Amino acid sequence: MPATESLNKITDTWYAKATVRSTPRICVPDYSSDQLIYPVARCSICEHPLITALGSEARSYILTQAAYQFLYGVGLLETKFVIQCCLNMLHNHIQGISDAAKLQALTVIIDEGYHAHVALDYIVQMKTKSAIEPLEIPQTNRKLDATARAYASLPPEMRMDFQLLAVTIAENVLTDEVANLGRERELAQSFTTLMMDHVRDEGRHSRFFADLMKERWPQLPPATQERFGTMLPAYLDDFLGADLSRRFERMILANCGLTDVQAEQVITESDPHFSTDQERMKKSILQRIYRLLKQIGILELDTVKDAFSDRNYVTT
Ligand SMILES: [Fe+2]
Ligand SMILES: [Fe+2]
Repeated sequence: MPATESLNKITDTWYAKATVRSTPRICVPDYSSDQLIYPVARCSICEHPLITALGSEARSYILTQAAYQFLYGVGLLETKFVIQCCLNMLHNHIQGISDAAKLQALTVIIDEGYHAHVALDYIVQMKTKSAIEPLEIPQTNRKLDATARAYASLPPEMRMDFQLLAVTIAENVLTDEVANLGRERELAQSFTTLMMDHVRDEGRHSRFFADLMKERWPQLPPATQERFGTMLPAYLDDFLGADLSRRFERMILANCGLTDVQAEQVITESDPHFSTDQERMKKSILQRIYRLLKQIGILELDTVKDAFSDRNYVTT
């Protein structure tokens, strides 16, 4: 398809399908302690006997805090990371970005600003309906910190291209995470709608970034390619690492009326379940990322292949 025709099609699709242009406001229903606002399966502490003994109100409290944490986390990635990268494309801080790509970067900025708005609107409504205040309003998270550590390890002239690669990976991961949450059963309809609306846009974003990175990768100097490729396994471990100290869950438990001893018991006894779940999710995400890296062409260098060779998510 000629370039102009293809760009027209992409722009028409955004006008027709972007959720900011085509979806109504999502309203949080009246809060009842029986309605699940977040999947129990994503909260290892929820099914512990000491928690179930506290009744449905305690479960609702825990799930509400987990939902706040998830929504704030997504908003942070959108506003501090994805939008920032798109602004860097727009202002030529990343080399070789065509007008067509800049137009799409602008749609991503609009979409992500809208998603962050929807998420905060949802949080504000949840606070009113549940009368539960978030235990914390995070200013950063593991993924942002991992990316900041990676930038800091690179010479300044490599940082912008690494940012593009990191966003390409993050958008791919986010699409999957949001789609999985949208498929969870027995959740409040409004939360499922929130996830499914979001994923409609994220599918488009992850294709855009992957296509852009496929074009950009062969233009990078060999030394940059090698540096990025060989640092990726450690970066991905950091980026996808779980908080093994389970700081936030400890904070929730401390506010649930459990004694310190009981809280420690919940953490210790739910630890095997927590670790297995984290490992399973991480492996499936890494397999997905590995396929993406292959498509981009990152795994063609022997040194990069070697760097990945002892990883258990590497499949042929
Ligand atoms: Fe988003
Ligand atoms: Fe996105």
